[in-house]
Amino acid sequence: MSLLDKFDALEATRRELLGHGTNPTDVIVERVISATESVIGGKPTIMAGTNNYLGLTFDPECIAAGKRALDEAGTGTTGSRMANGNYASHAELEREIANFYGYPYAMVFSTGYAANIGTMSALVGPGDAVMLDGDAHASLFDGSKLSGATVYRFKHNDAESLDKRLRRLGEVASRTLVIVEGLYSILGDRAPLKELAEVTRAHDACLFVDEAHSLGVLGETGRGRVEEDQVEADFVVGTFSKSLGSTGGFCVSPHRALTLFRYASRPYMFTASPCPSVIATTRAALVQLRARPELRESLWRNAERLYSGLAQLGFTLGPEPSPVVAVRMTSREQALANWQQLLDNGVYINLILPPAAPDGTALLRCSVSAAHTPEQIDRIIEAFRQLPRDPGQRE
Ligand SMILES: Cc1ncc(COP(=O)(O)O)c(C=O)c1O
Repeated sequence: MSLLDKFDALEATRRELLGHGTNPTDVIVERVISATESVIGGKPTIMAGTNNYLGLTFDPECIAAGKRALDEAGTGTTGSRMANGNYASHAELEREIANFYGYPYAMVFSTGYAANIGTMSALVGPGDAVMLDGDAHASLFDGSKLSGATVYRFKHNDAESLDKRLRRLGEVASRTLVIVEGLYSILGDRAPLKELAEVTRAHDACLFVDEAHSLGVLGETGRGRVEEDQVEADFVVGTFSKSLGSTGGFCVSPHRALTLFRYASRPYMFTASPCPSVIATTRAALVQLRARPELRESLWRNAERLYSGLAQLGFTLGPEPSPVVAVRMTSREQALANWQQLLDNGVYINLILPPAAPDGTALLRCSVSAAHTPEQIDRIIEAFRQLPRDPGQRE
């Protein structure tokens, strides 16, 4: 048995995925036409699986800011924040993010993934505990592993399950980081944040909320689930790669200790800082997010239109309308075949196969953008209508 033998299984999976035409994990976007359309396989395709919630990737202000930064500061920083890569614009973005959330402290990371593993691994270690929602994103599991803390899971969105598990931890509960997402990335359901926060406080544990899919999406001013449920979390993390249309991640906190994570977080210290143009487009996108609530309104109109259209066709969907619309499939094979048919009909969505879907089922995951037109949403619904009927799949 050599180190390379395990790749035989991966090769078999790759071949199975290829069996239906396009390998869903290997789609090439040949040309980007707009925030909602690309050319794939030589054909204009509606992009309905991009997380581009506010449709800001082609915003003229963001593009102009990125071009200016390229001219003024060059293509990259060629160093980490601890060394030569700590530009004034990184610090300004941190101030702007902190100000947006109304928290005193903020840190910017090179990706959302790095923000999660970087914050978690600085905060907890051996002898501490991490209590994760069962549906938490892979980066949160990876952050738990990297931290060396003991990892526990509680039942998805279940405050009673969290309470029971924290009770069992005894005095370790006060050294426990409770990790939840504001809006879950696969089924598009919200966390019952107020209840989860109350339980966390009752056990003197710390609350960590990943708002990757809720920044710009939920809350009166787009601050996410913490704003919607009026909860002050100990740590709020998020990404710039979804509603802000760039790359990077952040953590904000009311705790001064966050300023010291810069000396304790290896995923912060040992990687290059974000390029100046990325910081510039992110800052411009944050201005748009704050100034144009109508983007959030269009996003939700589109989300409701897609959710109700697919529900009327009889598909089994995620628990509530949201910009993430999950369509349940009866089998992996059916999901693969339907994903391919949708692509052939000019609609790109995400294929989620077991074990990635929460309860081990297969899903077709759509994500909606403020930039979709009602006609595009109707074309997505029409493409779903043309899928073969399967009595097990539709209610
Ligand atoms: C919930 C959640 N957290 C973190 C991340 C990581 O963000 P990024 O892709 O910007 O590194 C993602 C990305 O999909 C996510 O869905």
